[in-house]
Amino acid sequence: MATALIILAAGQGTRMNSELPKVLHRVAGAPLLVHAMSAAAPLGAERTFVVAGHGAEAVRAAALAHDETVEVVIQSEQKGTGHAVAQALPHLQDFAGKVIVLFGDTPFIRAETLEAMLAARSDVVVLGFEAADPKRYGRLVVHSGHLFGIVEYKDATEDQRAITLCNSGVICADASLMSRLVAGLGTTNAAGEYYLTDIVAAARAAGLTAEVVTCPEHETLGVNTRADLAEAEAAFQARKRVEMMEDGVTLTAPDTVYFAFDTVVGRETVIGPNVVFGPGTTVESGAVIEAFCHLTGCHVSRGASVGPFARLRPGAELAEDVHVGNFVEIKNAILDEGVKVGHLTYLGDADVGARTNIGAGTVTCNYDGVMKHRTTIGADVFIGSDTMLVAPVTVGAGALTGSGSVITENVPAGAVALGRAAQVVKPGLAAKLFEKLKAEKARRQKAKE
Ligand code: UD1
Ligand code: CA
Repeated sequence: MATALIILAAGQGTRMNSELPKVLHRVAGAPLLVHAMSAAAPLGAERTFVVAGHGAEAVRAAALAHDETVEVVIQSEQKGTGHAVAQALPHLQDFAGKVIVLFGDTPFIRAETLEAMLAARSDVVVLGFEAADPKRYGRLVVHSGHLFGIVEYKDATEDQRAITLCNSGVICADASLMSRLVAGLGTTNAAGEYYLTDIVAAARAAGLTAEVVTCPEHETLGVNTRADLAEAEAAFQARKRVEMMEDGVTLTAPDTVYFAFDTVVGRETVIGPNVVFGPGTTVESGAVIEAFCHLTGCHVSRGASVGPFARLRPGAELAEDVHVGNFVEIKNAILDEGVKVGHLTYLGDADVGARTNIGAGTVTCNYDGVMKHRTTIGADVFIGSDTMLVAPVTVGAGALTGSGSVITENVPAGAVALGRAAQVVKPGLAAKLFEKLKAEKARRQKAKE
């Protein structure tokens, strides 16, 4: 059966105390909204709407960047969750299928949970959870397996507040039924808002059925404050670490490794302590990432070793068995099989051929203050320590650069390039020089007395 999603993301998120719309705050490198969108992605919904209001243009851009087929509708005044859904429903007039309403600030709902809601038989299906601390959540009024209504905390009696089965906010119903029920919503409640939750009582009053599908509380974690955001981050990291280890990745000190929402790591890879992954990183099987590395937007192939203390930035591509050692930074550079970059080096905007050895302290001078230029190094090259490669420049296969060279001209294959001042040697001069310096030191001391 066809499915449509409506993701509510118009609220200001006042308690975040932020210029940024709440749903654009990030967990594991991705906006909350993107987490909500990806959670539902496995359902393969025919239509997905994001209801934007506060910071609508930024929210629209983030939604479309993640999925260009998303339809963004604007709720210019925030008159409640029912009113928000009402902005999307007219677009679903001819839609035959179910609608699921999700919140953009609730990142961890699992697709299986949404599938269970779609599979439920009742006319209106609500996702609930047993709250350890029910706080100000809406309470679910259930008798003998049937859901009779959702009571918002503000409107609840003492008895109703004692209920611990709470509303996650996720609601599912047939599209045309949802449209009918939402059209009938009013604002006679403590908040003076159109409550989406009121569609349950309305459905019951019309003789229709409603039920609760439940999920573990951690799935329904909603972000309202920066403390909630930190809690969401910690929860994400805790789960991702366990998942990685289950997938055959060794984490020496799991609590110190931070993954991005999309980090992929192959089996038998070993990750040392204090490693941080930014978005867009894949590490193949059998690689080693030593302590204190930072990897973003890069690819590390089978058998490669990185770190300790290495930084791989966007566009860094390490082929099989490459070694990148300590205090090395690599950006937008392709390192072919078996390349070794052991120490204190910057490679940016570069291609490095197979088995080439890059000496300590090498720098690709890729930026002239206005434009970026590329450095191309062939296979089996030996770049001497402290070589400055002033791009654009090419070093041919099998060539060698002398230590301390500043390479400004292309080096042909097989050549030796020395780009440094010739050494001058003066026999016996050292002793005389030291004499002179000592005499000068004594003179200065005397002058002070
Ligand atoms: C809502 C539910 C409550 C549930 C709780 C779970 C209602 C009336 N109440 O309460 O039962 O326990 O979520 O977290 O639905 N939004 C809009 N436009 C609006 C109002 C809200 O887009 O006019 C969006 C918000 O940006 C947010 C979501 O809807 O993503 C929820 O709104 P919020 O005001 O946080 O609802 P709660 O009071 O928490
Ligand atoms: Ca909320």
